[in-house]
Amino acid sequence: MWNVEEFARAAGVTVDELAAYVAESQSGATPVIRRRPPGELAERLGLARWIREGGMTAEAYREFLRDYLAEGTRMHHPAYLGHQIAAPDFPAALADFVHGATNNPMAVYEMGASAATVEFEVLRWMLGKVGFGETGGGVLTHGGSLANLTALLAARASAAPEAWTDGVPGDLALLVPASTHYSLTRAAAILGLGERAVMPLDVDGLGRIDVARLPKAMERVRRAGRRPMALVANACATGTGLYDDLRGVGEFCAANGVWFHVDGAHGASALLAAEHRHLLDGIELADSLIWDAHKMLRTSSLAAAVLTRREGDLDAAFQQRASYLFYGEQGFDLIGRTVECSKAELGLKIFLNLAWRGEGGLGEHVARQYATAHRFWELARERPGFECPYEPESNIVCFGYGTADPVDVRERLMADGAFQLTSAELGGVRHLRVTVMAPATDDKTLEALLDRIAELGGSADPR
Ligand SMILES: Cc1ncc(COP(=O)(O)O)c(C=O)c1O
Repeated sequence: MWNVEEFARAAGVTVDELAAYVAESQSGATPVIRRRPPGELAERLGLARWIREGGMTAEAYREFLRDYLAEGTRMHHPAYLGHQIAAPDFPAALADFVHGATNNPMAVYEMGASAATVEFEVLRWMLGKVGFGETGGGVLTHGGSLANLTALLAARASAAPEAWTDGVPGDLALLVPASTHYSLTRAAAILGLGERAVMPLDVDGLGRIDVARLPKAMERVRRAGRRPMALVANACATGTGLYDDLRGVGEFCAANGVWFHVDGAHGASALLAAEHRHLLDGIELADSLIWDAHKMLRTSSLAAAVLTRREGDLDAAFQQRASYLFYGEQGFDLIGRTVECSKAELGLKIFLNLAWRGEGGLGEHVARQYATAHRFWELARERPGFECPYEPESNIVCFGYGTADPVDVRERLMADGAFQLTSAELGGVRHLRVTVMAPATDDKTLEALLDRIAELGGSADPR
């Protein structure tokens, strides 16, 4: 049994230390990242001793937690410009805490009526935002990769309903731009289509689907003796942060009877920002869509939605037998729509952020991050040696500097913990890549980054 007084003491320690950690991170006074080797870090944190002996107390925990936090990567830090992981807002963090204590795992309604009902209402809100309100269905999953797999399962059930029992027919094709997230091509292999079923769409110089050349792609599919299971568009692409023309692609798919899947893991949240909503014009034409809350809706990892325009399509994705769970009418249970059996109280994270900040507040967050990335692009363009191949549409920007090797520059920026950023290939050339995730990132941060790259990057002459 819990000693609830000990719990309250330890929880108090957690709140104190996390508050100090977030305040320090937001101020930018510490390194954004530390990369001590695992052996050395295990030693420093006393991991072997704690595992061997146990006996932690609230005070020892305070020391441990302080070191643990100091050695991690600080998502709230202004110089965190790396992967698409949110600096979580605190209402969502509270939801994680509540889940940790209540553990209503959401396999079936009877395992957590409140958690399940919150998920229903969050999904209803998301479906409404996308334009699937009247007919659509949804489910929350642990992450965008699983969400993409689930959506493609629904597409497969639509194209080949017999696949679940008879195995996958050999003539299915998945049409994707090369810029699509790897979880989609991986899903094709997991689903039994095989990687050879993935057929690339023609794209422009920035990796966006060339709508005018879609008929040619269909012709290639037909000539290969295949039929399209689904066609995927990015909203937005992971590497560049650029959006495909959803209306153009959606209308083509509708006219040709092709399942249209939109990967909105990162960029669907722009639906909440009036000035960016146009980037998602045509999203309501999708047959399926994924939308990650743990990217731009400021929840911790993971909380992703799979949404389908027709509710029945999602129900058709899985067919299962388990006599202790599945019998008769499933009532309110969403278990039939997910790979997971048990899952966390994912809806609560999204709900509490919504309840605290309002839809408008979340939209303002998206708009602010997109604006900061645009500012970075403006500042970089003004400086000699910086090359920015496109105007950003989201909070992701790719750029280069003179003859500098992006991999080397990135390593050196991270070596002393001054900045964390990533790199990505664009048109076969590796670029540096900034993703503005933390609300604390400002002009001072961006100028300092550009100064530092110019210092490290050698000649400003073009590559
Ligand atoms: C466009 C896109 N789709 C899917 C994913 C996978 O999401 P997750 O990391 O939640 O599995 C990502 C991750 O960055 C992404 O950018």
